[in-house]
Amino acid sequence: MIENDIERVFFSEEELKARVKELGAKITQDYDGKSPIFIGVLKGSFVFMADLMRAVRTYCDIDFMAVSSYGSGTVTTGAVKINKDLSYNVEGRHIIIIEDILDSGVTLSYLKRYIEARKPASVAICTLLDKPARRKADISPDYVGFECPDAFIVGYGLDYAERYRNLPYIGVLKPEIYA
Ligand code: IMP
Ligand code: MG
Repeated sequence: MIENDIERVFFSEEELKARVKELGAKITQDYDGKSPIFIGVLKGSFVFMADLMRAVRTYCDIDFMAVSSYGSGTVTTGAVKINKDLSYNVEGRHIIIIEDILDSGVTLSYLKRYIEARKPASVAICTLLDKPARRKADISPDYVGFECPDAFIVGYGLDYAERYRNLPYIGVLKPEIYA
């Protein structure tokens, strides 16, 4: 069972649920009447996005982009490649980019510029987790679920070598798993 690989729980199911509800309420307030497009960054954001959008009460559209910035390890490569592009024309629309975690910021600063070049009305960033200590790119999120310590975490969409995305909470793996 995957639970056996977890050393410590960082954010429990209950904590995630409560915080996602608050974020949804805030976005509902801020975007009332604006019909935003949520753009989820695959794959990590899909669990968060599914919960978040059910906590949002405005009309909204959803789209996804897939980018690769990481290999199967735990250190960023710095390179960003678009594997799945937007399927919408975002010109004149209000965009909210949904991310699982803002780490170095390399991925999101690239994506934000990419989307801004298509002339949307606005672009905001909503990330479930923020690791400000590791920031390299000049970027700050508009909505943050939790600040998190500089540890490699998994669960609730976040993977290690594509595993553990299906854990309903967020935790740290036992050191021997990374070996
Ligand atoms: P950035 O470009 O360094 O900000 O990388 C962001 C991406 O790296 C996230 O969307 C995640 O897919 C991945 N990532 C960063 N830190 C972690 C972590 O602690 N666990 C799992 N994935 C992570
Ligand atoms: Mg990942």
